[in-house]
Amino acid sequence: MLSSKNKEKIYIKCIESVKSTSESNKLKFISKLLFESFDSWIFCGFYVQENDKLLVSEYSANKIPCSPIEFNGVCGTAILKNKILNIGDVNTFQGHIVCDNNSKSELCIPFDIEGIKYVLDIDSNIYDAFCEIDEKYLVKIIKEI
Ligand code: SME
Repeated sequence: MLSSKNKEKIYIKCIESVKSTSESNKLKFISKLLFESFDSWIFCGFYVQENDKLLVSEYSANKIPCSPIEFNGVCGTAILKNKILNIGDVNTFQGHIVCDNNSKSELCIPFDIEGIKYVLDIDSNIYDAFCEIDEKYLVKIIKEI
């Protein structure tokens, strides 16, 4: 498991990269950058709401993710509650949608761009992978979109 200090260092570098990139597709850049920065992550991407479904948008992953998905999973619940969901063990979340059997913990951060609802979704192959440091820096990164 990464120490808090090392985690922060990685995020600080990521924020610098996001701020200085010339890539206009920020969702694509961020998903790839973050995915490649953390060894335990097996999915990092964005879902976007379209009517009563969520469609996968830009992402980096080991496997092709499920899409569309319903609102009963972690991503949909984060959007419906407009709340960050940090699930230490995905098996404990009723309605969790399994896209990759290796997923053990998941972090979902909902946000809006021009009235359209998105969620940044991250899956890890270890339990309890995410903490308030992830939440803090990922919210900062989303603000750069
Ligand atoms: N587990 C999510 C589905 C998306 S994947 O993890 C890529 C959910 O329960 O909504």
